[in-house]
Amino acid sequence: MGFKSSLFTSLLMVGSAAAATTTAAAAASTVSVEPIIMKGTKFFYKNGTQFFIKGIAYQQDTGAAGTTTGSTYIDPLSNVTLCERDIPLMQKLETNVIRTYAIDPTADHSGCMALLQEAGIYVISDLSEPDLSINRDSPTWNTALFTRYKSVVDELGQYENVIGFFAGNEVTNNNTNTDASAYVKAAVRDVKAYINSTSSRWMGVGYAANDDDDIRDNMAHYFNCGDQDNAIDFWGYNIYEWCGENTFTGSGYSEVVSFFQNYSVPVFFAEYGCNEPDGAKGRIWEETTALYSSEMTDVIAGGIVYMYFEEANDYGLVSIVDDKASTMADYDTLSTVIAKVSPSSTAMSAYTPTNSPAACPAIGSAWQAADVLPPTPDNSTCDCMVKSLTCVPSDSLNSTGYAALFGSICGLDASACAGITANTSTGVYGAYVMCDATEQISYVLDAYYKNQNSDSSACDWNGQAQVVKASTAASSCSALLAAASSSNSYAATATAGSASTSTGSSSGSSTTSKSAAPSFSRSILTLGDLSVGLYVLVAMATGAGMLVL
Ligand SMILES: *[C@@H]1O[C@H](CO)[C@@H](O)[C@H](O)[C@H]1NC(C)=O
Ligand SMILES: *[C@@H]1O[C@H](CO)[C@@H](O)[C@H](O)[C@H]1NC(C)=O
Ligand SMILES: *[C@@H]1O[C@H](CO)[C@@H](O)[C@H](O)[C@H]1NC(C)=O
Ligand SMILES: *[C@@H]1O[C@H](CO)[C@@H](O)[C@H](O)[C@H]1NC(C)=O
Ligand SMILES: *[C@@H]1O[C@H](CO)[C@@H](O)[C@H](O)[C@H]1NC(C)=O
Ligand SMILES: *[C@@H]1O[C@H](CO)[C@@H](O)[C@H](O)[C@H]1NC(C)=O
Ligand SMILES: *[C@@H]1O[C@H](CO)[C@@H](O)[C@H](O)[C@H]1NC(C)=O
Ligand SMILES: *[C@@H]1O[C@H](CO)[C@@H](O)[C@H](O)[C@H]1NC(C)=O
Repeated sequence: MGFKSSLFTSLLMVGSAAAATTTAAAAASTVSVEPIIMKGTKFFYKNGTQFFIKGIAYQQDTGAAGTTTGSTYIDPLSNVTLCERDIPLMQKLETNVIRTYAIDPTADHSGCMALLQEAGIYVISDLSEPDLSINRDSPTWNTALFTRYKSVVDELGQYENVIGFFAGNEVTNNNTNTDASAYVKAAVRDVKAYINSTSSRWMGVGYAANDDDDIRDNMAHYFNCGDQDNAIDFWGYNIYEWCGENTFTGSGYSEVVSFFQNYSVPVFFAEYGCNEPDGAKGRIWEETTALYSSEMTDVIAGGIVYMYFEEANDYGLVSIVDDKASTMADYDTLSTVIAKVSPSSTAMSAYTPTNSPAACPAIGSAWQAADVLPPTPDNSTCDCMVKSLTCVPSDSLNSTGYAALFGSICGLDASACAGITANTSTGVYGAYVMCDATEQISYVLDAYYKNQNSDSSACDWNGQAQVVKASTAASSCSALLAAASSSNSYAATATAGSASTSTGSSSGSSTTSKSAAPSFSRSILTLGDLSVGLYVLVAMATGAGMLVL
């Protein structure tokens, strides 16, 4: 479940709340917040007191207010007037965490963040937005996504009451799309390294999973296993198993606790609050009592109620009419229930973690993501590659034509496409899987042309391609391109069962990428609409599949 939206738009522009923002920020600037850190499977205030999440999901769907046609999301933390309306209501529920699903990194969040801080409320935010997220049907981890994720970290990371981020929400959601988890784990790795290199304090990077029987155990192990620099800092479970009246065992909560007993990082409910049998307002919150009881608190670090806003899916605590908030019956029930919970806590000094990371799941029909991950998106590498090409798209090729061209070229010459192929189950990736679609089609045109001994007739495609002189590239390009070229040769020849051999090649190229100076130069060719890129990649994958057959 969670935040879903599909309309197309540009980012929300927020500016006129500046005056209110400044006032709120000034008022709160004297309040300092005790940062949250993790140790083993538990969260703590930095002062050593254990921290249990009492959270609420806080994100209004587009169109819910009837005001925002044409937006893919409404930033929940950029309008101080709305934060002033809602935060007191969340405080009355003893809320200490909100989960936001999509924020606009260009907006000013200082007002809302200050109000939250004053209220003792921390934020865990998803990094994606509807138009820039890892798509389970055509998963990728590329420069556009990494740029978006970094911008959210840069923006929210300024505020000490940010605990961390989700690199994905229910991306893999059943056994047909387990491959997508490789890209999400690559995002975890890269965002962790980015936080590590840019922030002076800890912020975690986790994943929010759905609760699908077939995959949940493999998935939990996958995100926890292997090199801990690549593994999640916390596991969020979106769980709706306890509905109405139930019990610890009857609800399946006991199995969750028993499964996660051995997990090595914090686990919490990233969404909970089943609305059956009586709809949102009929919720009685027995599961909340259970969540903070001694049966669970040793293993589960609390949970986030889904959700603040009452909307068409009927999971709300508060309904909004004409910008006015009114609490619903389940809000009152929750406030009574939450007032009575009193989780018994452990002091950080008295706690010695003993669990170790899980083993990675075996690759097979049930799980198709190896722990050898896709490369780190690196604009410099893509940029250097484009500059080195001598066969490139002509003006008459636009993104509509990419799919057909990928299909034709990769069908004629698979080796020309090795640099953009990916196999999650063997962990073999071309170096340019992380570039954008325009860069990729350029690479493929050029590789085909070179494979045809630079015969000019091999760089035409009905006028869609043209021969050019390679541009002068920065001296730093030669090392990047050499590393990419070696990954691509490996990808071209890689066969079954070669995941371990590929480790060297893959990590070699990502190390090179990471150490490269960031480039702010834009590609000479840009693609406006990512969804076109995704479409192209789907078409391409289909083409490549047919080729294998
Ligand atoms: C904040 O929300 C209120 C209520 O919807 C609206 O009237 C106001 O214009 C918004 N402010 C900004 C800066 O968007
Ligand atoms: C640590 O900080 C939290 C939040 O301010 C506070 O509730 C708690 O009492 C503090 N613990 C200690 C040991 O000072
Ligand atoms: C990197 O490339 C992506 C995709 O082309 C683009 O959206 C982004 O702005 C670039 N980032 C930088 C820092 O140049
Ligand atoms: C798996 O999830 C996808 C995407 O939500 C859906 O289209 C497909 O029907 C699901 N398949 C199964 C077997 O549940
Ligand atoms: C963070 O940086 C430290 C030292 O700079 C390093 O030991 C650690 O492995 C890094 N972690 C990640 C996730 O990059
Ligand atoms: C947890 O670890 C113990 C000891 O290693 C083991 O016996 C048990 O089977 C594990 N439980 C799960 C659910 O993995
Ligand atoms: C894009 O190229 C296609 C041919 O592949 C053409 O039909 C279409 O008009 C072009 N669109 C634009 C906006 O140039
Ligand atoms: C990945 O590689 C393995 C081993 O070569 C092969 O069996 C499998 O079909 C490939 N998967 C895809 C999606 O191409």
